[in-house]
Amino acid sequence: MSVIQTFAPGRVNVIGDHIDYLGGHVLPMALKLGTHVRLQWIDGDQHRAISSSHGQARWPVDNPPAPCGHWYDYLIGALGDLPQATRIEIVSDLPQGAGLSSSASLLVALVAARAELMHQPLDRLSIARRARQIEIEHIGLKCGIMDQYASAFGQKGHALLLDCQAQTHQPVQLKMDGAELWAIDSKAPRSLAGSVYNERVAECAEIGRLAGTDDFFAIDIDLPEPLDRRLKHIQSEQKRVHSFATAAAAGDLRAMGQIMNDSHRSLSEDYEVAGPALDKLQSCLANTVGCFGARMTGGGFGGCVIALVRSDARDMVQHRVALEYGDTQWIQCKPSDGARVL
Ligand code: GLA
Repeated sequence: MSVIQTFAPGRVNVIGDHIDYLGGHVLPMALKLGTHVRLQWIDGDQHRAISSSHGQARWPVDNPPAPCGHWYDYLIGALGDLPQATRIEIVSDLPQGAGLSSSASLLVALVAARAELMHQPLDRLSIARRARQIEIEHIGLKCGIMDQYASAFGQKGHALLLDCQAQTHQPVQLKMDGAELWAIDSKAPRSLAGSVYNERVAECAEIGRLAGTDDFFAIDIDLPEPLDRRLKHIQSEQKRVHSFATAAAAGDLRAMGQIMNDSHRSLSEDYEVAGPALDKLQSCLANTVGCFGARMTGGGFGGCVIALVRSDARDMVQHRVALEYGDTQWIQCKPSDGARVL
C-alpha cells in the first residue's frame, strides 16, 4: 500500500507578536528544522502512531478519544475522522515546546499528508487554515494564522511579510551582511503560555467591544488599565514590523536591533507575555557587545528569544549568555522552504 510522506518546517517570528489574531502584519520565516510525517492505511480497527519525540499511541478508529493534553491530541484532531486505520510515523528535529511552532509544523504536515492519502490535495492556504482550525477547535488555543501560514508558505532566503487579515504575503529579503539571526531557547517551562494567551485574546475582544470596531490599528479611545497598555502594544508592534522591514531592506543592523529591543519591551511591559526568564535572557543579549538587539519570539512565557548577532562575535556572545543566564540552545535562523509532499 502506498506511503505518503510530508515535511513541514517550524518557524521563527522575526517581529510582530500577538497581532496576528487581530489581523495585523507580521514577519515570520520558516526554519530548516521541522516535522516529517509518514502515513499509510493499515488493516485493523486502531490507528497506530509512533513519534521520535513522544513514543507510541493507539486509538480506536470508530471512537477517537476527546483531547486531554496528550501529544497525540494533534493526530486525532487531524486524522480522527478517517474511515479506516492508519499507521502514522512522526520524526521531528525541532526542539519541542520551545516556541518554534513544533505543533503548527506537526499539524501542517499531518493535514497535507491526510489530503494526499484521501486523494484530495489541498493548496497551501487551505492547509494552513485547516491546521489553525484544528489548533483552535481541538486543542483549544485561540491562535492566529501566523505559524501555520509560515510553515506552509516558507520561502528559502526570505522572511514573509504576512498580512493576517488578507492572508497574503510578500517575500522579504533581510540584508544582514556580517550578522546572523539566532533563536535562543531559554529552556524555561511554558506552562502559563496557553492560559495567558487565551486571556490576552479575550482582553482584545473586550477592547473591540468597547471601541465598537475590530480594526484594532485604528482605535483611538481612552481605555481602562490594563487594556490601554494592551492596545499600545498592538498599535506600536504593527508599526515596528514595517520599520523593521524597511531597516532590513537597507541592511541597517543597528536600527533592526533597536526595533527588536523596543518590541521586547512592549511585549514584556505592555502586553505582559514575556515572563522573568525571557526578560533575563533578552537583557543579557541586548547588553552584550556584538549583539545588535533581541526580543522574545512567539507566544511567550518560555520559549525562545531571537537575537541579531555579529557573525564574528557569536562565540563571545554565547559565552556571556552561558555565564550570565545559564543553559540555552542556539538555533540559527536561515529562512527555508515551506511544507512539501516528499
Ligand atoms: C503563538 C500563536 C501565533 C501568534 C504567536 C504570537 O505562536 O500560535 O498565532 O499569535 O503566538 O505572535
